Amino acid sequence: MASELQAKYRKDYQSPSHTITDIDLTFYLHEERTRVIAVSQVRQLENTNQLVLDGENLELVSLHINDQSWTDYKVTDTGLELSSLPEEKFELRIETVINPSTNTALEGLYISGQAYCTQCEAEGFRRITYYQDRPDVLARYTTTIVVADREKYPYLLSNGNKIDEGETEDGASWVRWQDPHPKPAYLFALVAGDFDLLQEQYKTKSGRQVTLEVFVDKGNRERATHAMLSLINAMQWDEERFGLEYDLDIYMVVAVDFFNMGAMENKGLNIFNSKYVLANDQTATDNDYLNIESIIGHEYFHNWTGNRVTCRDWFQLSLKEGLTVFRDQEFSSDLGSRSVNRIQSVRLIRGPQFAEDASPMSHPIRPDKVIEMNNFYTLTVYEKGSEVIRMIHTLLGEDNFQKGMKLYFERHDGTAATCEDFVSAMEDASGIDLQQFRLWYSQSGTPELTVSGEYSEAEKRFSLHVRQHTAPTTDQEEKQAQHIPLKTELYDSAGQIIKLQCNGKNLSDILNVTESEQTFVFENVYEKPVPSLLGEFSAPVKLSYDYSDEELMFLMVHAKNDFARWDAGQMLLGKYIRQNVESVQNNQDITISEGVVAAFRGVLLDQVAEPAFIAEMLSLPNFNEVSGWFDEVDVDSITTVLKAMKVELSQALKQDFSTVYHQLEQSDYSIEHEAIGQRALRNTCLSYLAYTEEGNELVQDQYQKALSMTDVIAAMTAANQAGLSCRETLMQDYSNQWKHDGLVMDKWFNLQGQNPAEDVLSVIYDSMEHEAFTMKNPNRIRSLIGSFLNFNPKRFHDKSGSGYQFAGKILQQLNTTNPQVASRMVDPLLKFKRYDKDRQALMKQELETLLNMDNLAKDLYEKVAKALDI
Ligand code: TRP
Ligand code: ZN
Repeated sequence: MASELQAKYRKDYQSPSHTITDIDLTFYLHEERTRVIAVSQVRQLENTNQLVLDGENLELVSLHINDQSWTDYKVTDTGLELSSLPEEKFELRIETVINPSTNTALEGLYISGQAYCTQCEAEGFRRITYYQDRPDVLARYTTTIVVADREKYPYLLSNGNKIDEGETEDGASWVRWQDPHPKPAYLFALVAGDFDLLQEQYKTKSGRQVTLEVFVDKGNRERATHAMLSLINAMQWDEERFGLEYDLDIYMVVAVDFFNMGAMENKGLNIFNSKYVLANDQTATDNDYLNIESIIGHEYFHNWTGNRVTCRDWFQLSLKEGLTVFRDQEFSSDLGSRSVNRIQSVRLIRGPQFAEDASPMSHPIRPDKVIEMNNFYTLTVYEKGSEVIRMIHTLLGEDNFQKGMKLYFERHDGTAATCEDFVSAMEDASGIDLQQFRLWYSQSGTPELTVSGEYSEAEKRFSLHVRQHTAPTTDQEEKQAQHIPLKTELYDSAGQIIKLQCNGKNLSDILNVTESEQTFVFENVYEKPVPSLLGEFSAPVKLSYDYSDEELMFLMVHAKNDFARWDAGQMLLGKYIRQNVESVQNNQDITISEGVVAAFRGVLLDQVAEPAFIAEMLSLPNFNEVSGWFDEVDVDSITTVLKAMKVELSQALKQDFSTVYHQLEQSDYSIEHEAIGQRALRNTCLSYLAYTEEGNELVQDQYQKALSMTDVIAAMTAANQAGLSCRETLMQDYSNQWKHDGLVMDKWFNLQGQNPAEDVLSVIYDSMEHEAFTMKNPNRIRSLIGSFLNFNPKRFHDKSGSGYQFAGKILQQLNTTNPQVASRMVDPLLKFKRYDKDRQALMKQELETLLNMDNLAKDLYEKVAKALDI
């Protein structure tokens, strides 16, 4: 197939033949026919008079070079080939026409609701004009926006500073923006529309006055305050922790309803999915608030890690994304609970990221081969990429890491850099050798650490034997031993940490695992210790150590940091989940030992631990994480066990859950971290109590008395999961109240998609007829259909294949309207090899049908072909 020929390889990188120093863009906005005039100052870098420009879905009107109409060009499927060009430098003027109104892919210039907006990362600028649409061509942008209807579009926005505005002879209004910082095309943005505007002034550490503006749909101004507050916090935090200040006079954030992803860091003009801006206590849950904080932070932090230093080519994406995720995680951890944030990041790695690494889409954080770049905005590039940065931070320490950042900016500010540049800066600034560590950038898959301990009473010596192994992945057969920082603590029976010593010297608690087999010896170990391994999840690996229940329960109580206590709890639950899955497969009963129940009672009643942390301790690993533990995923047994263990715990701890639930009742609402934590624990209790006799009444009661959306959704979720009789009433009531607000209805769609009821498909089809639903809006699709595919394992994997067939139909439809969203939704089907033969065949059939479509977009083609091994 032709698409395969378009694959690009990292090793084939070539620097551009020409660069563009300045570009002057004029947009005559029109819903069906927007005219774009692009005047570029082109400079020759290599001795050639040919230049290839990228372009897609463009109507070429005219082309001039140095004011002369030019005919030496050829229009191709993917762009424009110019020839016989002047030497050194020239001015290129291109006029194109584009159609925003039919742009359902939401890449390039499109219409969201009543407004125009753009999305250019990764390769959307080529849908606006013919250009060198690659991140290593950095130009200064001047942008003029002209609209005929100024009533409808009072705000005309682009990157940088507003430098002029006026009116044309025929009454159209125009605004001109200039961005002093050279940037690649993917950071370009334009917005035109009518909004409510929230404004603040911010003074940077060095005294620069910055105007902060958040634009939201009319009537939503009061829902923008949390985003604004988060922005101010992010700016302050980056000054304090990283010494980085903002560099323009204005910073704008625009919320739009139609958006393929979370948000986009366009220079000075971030565009956000409204889901990650709008919030008040009636419409947003605590999770929404926390997500807004972290994504506002993420996009703001990109201003330095992404924009000031950008990527040389798209294979280097993790250079900006891994680093920026690391920064946003640190931001959230410094402002809120470090342990809870860490736990949530680790869940994301151990569940979906490990699954991705074990799937046909497995790739290193710096991929080697790409057909459609949009397919590589992945958990691996983002989350594992962040873990790789975190390991560097662990190996270097905060001071050396900050020195490395400083050197990185000294060397690369204003340029397009590579992952190698980053690692070199870290290495040069710290003097620490990262040679073997670099394998984290080139090797895919999840390393598995098998650790065993051996104690010699006579010699007072404890040895840890460590083996590492990375299974072959679809993209790579051969794996080498990696440099794995293994944070280790040894505990004595009184719960005190035993100093790590060898040859009379103190050792760091970070062990450097570098070989495929290695032994670490510790001396002066006065009694047989309990080791706590991979503390803080010091590396994104799978760990196995043959702990007894007693040892895990000991660590749950005595480990000195919350993360290790949580991890011990998860390992203990994990042991029972595995055992019970085996029992179910052999038609035996499900059991949990009384000791384990008692250990969790201890956690629940802990008076010292943070409530938010206790809530995490009491959360069972979810289906997706558990699936990763088995060679063949037995959907029925795993779902049965997870539910049975939940029921079992709820029965055994009924009284305690009830006591804590009632103790934590709040009399007023606040979004302080402490209050959020209390709600988290209280709602975790409710999720268990839902399975007891008083469940229905409690849930109904909470729904009616709820002071916040958090408590409303917690009640509805409990009703949904436990299949309570109040479910329909609550769902109906919620829909009556919120049917006019798509964003608020997303929570309802999400619950419909996750409904464990047998007839969930008809529930979903009915929901698709709901007045708030539309297949044009990615948020609606993800809420209703994405939740079914990803979080309703029992019904999605129904033996009949009905779930797969439904997914197939939806994907065929989305393939034409929005390939980017389609491609994100196909992931669960790609993993067919993990299931039994019957399910495999049914899943495969849907992939084959997709592959046989004659208009399959390259987004889906790349993934489906990989999965089917074509
Ligand atoms: N760079 C953006 C971020 O991580 C995400 C992004 C990439 C994106 N491609 C996109 C957003 C396409 C929307 C659409 O912050
Ligand atoms: Zn990002």
